Order: sequence, then structure tokens, then C-alpha cells
Amino acid sequence: MTTPALAARSVVVRFGGLTAVDGVDLDVDDRTVVGIIGPNGAGKTTFFNALSGLVTPASGRLFVGGADLTGKPAHVFARAGIARTFQTPRVFADMTVAESVRFGLEFAGRRRRAERASLAEVPAILDFLGLADSAALPARAVTPARQRLLEIGMALATRPRILLLDEVAAGLTHAEVEKVARLVHRCRDELGLGVVWIEHAVAVLLDAVERVLVLHQGRKLAEGIPSAVARDPLVIEAYLGDGAAEARP
Ligand SMILES: Nc1ncnc2c1ncn2[C@@H]1O[C@H](COP(=O)(O)OP(=O)(O)O)[C@@H](O)[C@H]1O
Ligand SMILES: [Mg+2]
Repeated sequence: MTTPALAARSVVVRFGGLTAVDGVDLDVDDRTVVGIIGPNGAGKTTFFNALSGLVTPASGRLFVGGADLTGKPAHVFARAGIARTFQTPRVFADMTVAESVRFGLEFAGRRRRAERASLAEVPAILDFLGLADSAALPARAVTPARQRLLEIGMALATRPRILLLDEVAAGLTHAEVEKVARLVHRCRDELGLGVVWIEHAVAVLLDAVERVLVLHQGRKLAEGIPSAVARDPLVIEAYLGDGAAEARP
């Protein structure tokens, strides 16, 4: 048995009296794409905050590459290879696309990850994302879809082992969302990353991931291969309903 790249064990996150994440387990291996779905307020983003060290769980443990990082600050998670995007885009409006990616590379510079097939230069990252022709533009001047790609690029520039994507396809057209899905697969296949992808576009997500976890009121309602989860009566009742069937392409 190999050690998972990322493992969460019975993670609990509380905000005062509210238990936002309630005993969630997750294993993510290299070269896999895992999806997380669930209604608004289910605890998806809070779980990512725990996985990236932005909030400390009230209980439970977090392991990156087998090392117990529970309670460590976010920069320790980042150095260990966890990179993420934010649900609310966080590009630097006045920096150019190329400068933004360079910023991520400089952050990673102190880290040795030579063993990984990571993209180590700005042009390579921009090419990978299809953003080369926007390199000299300020981030604020590119389309929302390109800003989302840039966010992924800034995360990739930190040379991660695990990439956490929080609704990177929100607000994009169907064609753009499909493009993001292809990019996620390339992160897995060409860079060897483990990707955890939260997305509201359930149909696209279920088509793109190998395994999906359903959160509901902070708890794991179901986990498994997409076809099984989509048929799970509990999941249909709590979340999918008729809307998801309609949303299927
Ligand atoms: N910083 C915070 N302080 C207090 N409550 C929070 C905070 N962040 C999230 N919550 C609450 O935790 C629950 C889960 O939120 P969130 O993780 O954002 O859900 P999701 O991403 O699934 O929509 C919600 O009830 C939300 O209001
Ligand atoms: Mg969220």
C-alpha cells in the first residue's frame, strides 16, 4: 500500500456553535481527480481551508505525503505541495498575466521539487494554460475565463503535488467549463497531480472525475464513482433532485 499524497482523517471545523465540517475523511493519490459536490453551505470551501492550512480543525488529522501537518500554518501546507484556488477570484488586477505567474514561481523557488514533472518557467506555464497571448496584459484586462485559468496557473507555479480547485468554472460558459475539465485532466496526466475539484456544475464534474464525495451539512453523505453516486437515493434526495438530470449534457 502506498501513502496517499493527501489524507484527511475525521476532520471537524467549527465556527462558534456551527459545525461546518463534521468528521470528513478523504484520500487523494497522485494522478487522480476527485470531485466534491454539495449544496451551498455544505462545508466544501471550509474543508478546502482545512486541507490547505487556512483553518485549523477542532479535531481530526491532516497528512501530506504521510507527514502529519495538523495545526501547521498555510505556508507549511504550501511547501509540502498543496496549492489551491479561491472561490472568489484573487488575481492581482494590476500585475500582468506573466508577472502573476512569476510571483507563484518565486514563492516556490525556495522549495526543491525537482523530482516532479512540474512546470518551472513562466512561458511553459502560460503555454500549458493557453494564455501565452495574454502574457503582457494586466490581469484585470483579460476575460473572466482567462482570469480563472490564471488563478490555476498561479497555483501550478508553486509546483504542487495536489491542486485544490474551488469552483474555478463558476460563471463560465458551458464550452469554457469543458475547457477547464480538459485542463484538469492534463494536470493529472501531464503533471502527475492529484486534483480535488469543487464545482457547482454537477454534470460536468461527474463526467470529469474518477471519484466524487458529496458533502451535506458538513458531513460526507456519499463517496464513490460518479455513476454510483448519481444514482444514490440519499444524494438524489438531498442534492441532485431533478435539476442535475436536466443539467446533464
Ligand atoms: N469564517 C466563517 N465564520 C463563520 N461561519 C463560516 C465561516 N466560513 C464558513 N462559514 C459557515 O460554514 C458553513 C459552510 O460554509 P462553506 O464551507 O463556505 O460552504 P460551501 O463552500 O459548501 O458553500 C456555512 O454555514 C457558512 O456560513
Ligand atoms: Mg464554497
